[in-house]
Amino acid sequence: MDNFTYHNYTNVVFGKDTETEAGVLTKALGNKTLLHYGGGSIRQSGLYDRVVASLQAAGVDFVELSGVQPNPRLNLVREGIDLCRREGVDCILAVGGGSVIDSAKAIAVGVPYDGDVWDFYTQKSKPETTLPIGVVLTIPAAGSETSTSSVISDEATYAKLGLRYQGYRPQFAILNPELTYSLPPYQLACGVCDMLAHIMERYFSSTQGVDFTDRLCEGGMRSILHIAPKLLDDPDDYDTRANLMWASCVAHGGILGVGRQEDWASHRLSHQISAWWHDLAHGAALSIALPAWMKYVYRENLPLFIQWAQRVMDVDLTFSDPDAIVLEGIRRLEAFFRRLDLPVRLSEIDADDRYSEAMAEKCVGVGAVKKLTKEDAIAIYRLML
Ligand code: NZQ
Ligand code: ZN
Repeated sequence: MDNFTYHNYTNVVFGKDTETEAGVLTKALGNKTLLHYGGGSIRQSGLYDRVVASLQAAGVDFVELSGVQPNPRLNLVREGIDLCRREGVDCILAVGGGSVIDSAKAIAVGVPYDGDVWDFYTQKSKPETTLPIGVVLTIPAAGSETSTSSVISDEATYAKLGLRYQGYRPQFAILNPELTYSLPPYQLACGVCDMLAHIMERYFSSTQGVDFTDRLCEGGMRSILHIAPKLLDDPDDYDTRANLMWASCVAHGGILGVGRQEDWASHRLSHQISAWWHDLAHGAALSIALPAWMKYVYRENLPLFIQWAQRVMDVDLTFSDPDAIVLEGIRRLEAFFRRLDLPVRLSEIDADDRYSEAMAEKCVGVGAVKKLTKEDAIAIYRLML
């Protein structure tokens, strides 16, 4: 096991009606807040009114910026930074999913910085300080509500880039599973794939001697595989939604990756798909990228992939050939994605590998199971066809 530090300070407030606490919790963050949200789902569901009522009841002064798109865009981040500076905003409340939270995080590091916020995402500079952020989460998926990451897209350069920064963990995260009832099944399915992927990116490692986190990850993956189909049969079940919301939070909160090298190649490969096909949800890019990546790299750490196939996908010993065991596990994973109506091939989203040269360049050097070369990435994109 590798050395590590683990410090997740986000105050998670979980359960029914918890959004009513948004005002009091935000009040503790600063004097003036940016209320940041997406394309309108929170207005349709009535959440917007409840959050505003909570802010007003707590005497929180705020301005608003809506319009965050899935795969959040750099242009709106820059607009948010200008607005915060003009209005003297000193904290941010993000109400929505990963896209809203990631946009809020980028604004939060951009406000106190003299240069262009994109410098952080292109690794030209490192953030030293940030405005504090609070979150009301509406979708179990990205895990940004307690994570150290933010992912932003620049349409002008077809770049979708992530930034990890310890200060990116929100100060508080309100998680009310009831807020997820309004989610379309497709968005829910994308979220399931994303949380599963967050565990798999940590699990598939080359670090030895990490049995405890191996088994935590295996339990997490098994639980998600078990819970998600139950939602298809009984979408109104509160406990199922609650378990899924907690799973997405734990999957990316950091604890499952401690002491081990994490991989993240599938995410990098999938981000390039969303960078060129902007409207593709992150989870749907992952359901295509993950199985292809697994097929390409599994021989690099065959014992771990066999362990996964047997302990997580229940592939039994009748498959005596090691390759057959792993490939059967991957086949079962693809079948799980298909059951959730997620794509597993580029052709299913009317995409192909025409940009794979440019996409592959952005994947060079990423990966713990196998550090990808450009040729590796091109070959993996070919497996996605
Ligand atoms: O914009 P609105 O109208 O709110 O609609 C959203 C959006 O269209 C809708 N939605 C959200 N909650 C809803 C709802 N519709 C009805 N009822 C609700 N309760 O769902 C759509 C997708 O929302 P989005 O925020 O994009 O989803 P998600 O949480 O999956 O976030 C995806 C983004 O997070 C990034 C992804 O790359 C992608 O850009 N990620 C962020 C990570 C992080 N910061 O740690 C890690 C992840 O790996 C991921 O990369
Ligand atoms: Zn993800």
